[in-house]
Amino acid sequence: MPFDTSVVAEIGAKVDLLTYVSQFVTLKKRGREYVGLCPFHSEKTPSFSLNAEKQVWHCYGCDAGGDLIKFVQRYENADFPTAIRMLAARAGITLGETAGAQRRRSEREAIYEANGVACDHFIANLKKSAAAREYLTSRGIEPKTAAAFGIGYAADSWDSLTCVLDRAGVDPTIAVAAGLVSPRRQGEGRFDFFRQRLMFPVYNLTGEVMAFGGRALTDEPPKYLNTPNTAAYTKGKHVYALQLARRAAAADGALIVVEGYLDAVALHQAGFANAVASLGTAFSAEQARELRRVASNVYLCFDGDAAGRSATARSVDMLVEEGLSVRVIALPEGKDPDALVREGGSQALSERIDVSVQWIDFKIAATCERIASRFATKSDIAREAMAIIAQVRDPIERDQYVKAMARRLEVSESALRGQRSSALPPRVSGEVAGAPVRRVPPATQPLSIERELLRIVLSRPSLLPEAMARVGSADFDEEPMRHAFEKLESNREELARGLNPLALFSQEETTTDLTLLALSSPPLALEEDERRLDAVLQRFARRRLERRLSTVDEEVNRLEKTGRAVPKPLREELVALASSLFGRKQTRRET
Ligand code: UTP
Ligand code: MN
Repeated sequence: MPFDTSVVAEIGAKVDLLTYVSQFVTLKKRGREYVGLCPFHSEKTPSFSLNAEKQVWHCYGCDAGGDLIKFVQRYENADFPTAIRMLAARAGITLGETAGAQRRRSEREAIYEANGVACDHFIANLKKSAAAREYLTSRGIEPKTAAAFGIGYAADSWDSLTCVLDRAGVDPTIAVAAGLVSPRRQGEGRFDFFRQRLMFPVYNLTGEVMAFGGRALTDEPPKYLNTPNTAAYTKGKHVYALQLARRAAAADGALIVVEGYLDAVALHQAGFANAVASLGTAFSAEQARELRRVASNVYLCFDGDAAGRSATARSVDMLVEEGLSVRVIALPEGKDPDALVREGGSQALSERIDVSVQWIDFKIAATCERIASRFATKSDIAREAMAIIAQVRDPIERDQYVKAMARRLEVSESALRGQRSSALPPRVSGEVAGAPVRRVPPATQPLSIERELLRIVLSRPSLLPEAMARVGSADFDEEPMRHAFEKLESNREELARGLNPLALFSQEETTTDLTLLALSSPPLALEEDERRLDAVLQRFARRRLERRLSTVDEEVNRLEKTGRAVPKPLREELVALASSLFGRKQTRRET
């Protein structure tokens, strides 16, 4: 994403990370760092650590980390531009909103307005339409519930909404941009997009109507017609009924996630005021973040069919990834939450909640089932199960799952651990009560020279010019390291002016990795860093020579084998390479 690095640098100069984070997290000084309870996952002993000198933070518990901007993004659940805007406002920096951004914002607001007019119109229609009200009754929805959700009705007409919008002075281009009205394919004129449908407005947290879902009253497909993507709404990004559920969720810390509009409505009516709907199949990361803003526990209650179970499995990953604690409510085959409470009342769902299972138990059971149908061996199962267990962040909890899995498969724990998938994070050691949990890289695996180089220049950007003079991006094998190096190279001027190098990676997956690298650098005097850098650069040079030597050696061999003459310069290069690598005496074996 393009952004103005000078603004980022100015923010970095004016807003101090320690001061900023201290507003939200109680930090205690410990050694060179400040530690506190991580705001991004629940914990009792502090694993959140902040380095004021380097202006970076990292949580050893949940692996979140980055610079100031990344902190604001996470804490405020804001995207990068929003975080920049918030910080700029705080630092008193005026940002020129680009013309494009201004246009999008005003279009979004105009769409909210048009949707508001449409929503009122649909609600009024419902009062007038006996057929629509009958349908609601047949689905067991009381008028009070319909009112709370703003449920309405789009009449069986080609232009009733189009006319209402015109009369309300809504710009026709906005009516089209909102997805409420479609232009005729041929000739002049426009027509209503939603016709003869029960209308469910989708509200944002501030109460504006972002979009609509329209349920057909008959069996004629499509069952639902939804607002397409607009400036005010992106499919798969929002959660239905969150504006109603957030207060209940704040009280008990949990949300119930169902699939459909009608499931959410039915659950609210049955007294589960913390129900929301995902409106589609699996969950997206954005939706997971929306939930994370209002609750940290989620019950997934998808339909009791194969599609529902596979959507559950995929959603679980997303939700766990966002740090939510997830339980799965299994429904009887063929039942959806709506049918469950309509037939059995709230009691029926309460019973199901009581026997809900931890997400990992659900996934392991699903994996075992899937594998069992493939005549897989125990070690296949063990391997897959260990890959799932690897997702558990808490080391103690992870250990318990290994034990349970061993019992379940009737194999020894050590055999299971031997299967440990490479996805497993390194084991945590040195855990002391009250001390931050450190992730120690295994002693047998020293840092690669590429990581070592990045570690030095990230923690001491003033050494970057020296590094760039002696290595280039072609010297890197590890793609993420090459990418990071190239990014540093192309931003050398901003870095020279004091930009925090980690700010360049705020938007990327690799942030945590790079932050960890930067943090793992011991605080050394400049001369010591220079010496380490020189040593690493020498190793780069040596590796380059070794690679060239093996290429030249191969080429010479190939020529000799095919009985062709070896050009003199090539032979000379070979000798020169060998002698600079191995000393004068050792040249190529002569035959
Ligand atoms: P369901 O088919 O489970 O619908 O789809 P539902 O909401 O339970 O409705 P009823 O009970 O059959 O009347 C779940 C969700 O998937 C989306 C809708 O958001 C729906 O609520 N969906 C489904 C569509 O967008 N389009 C469709 O054609 C079907
Ligand atoms: Mn349904």
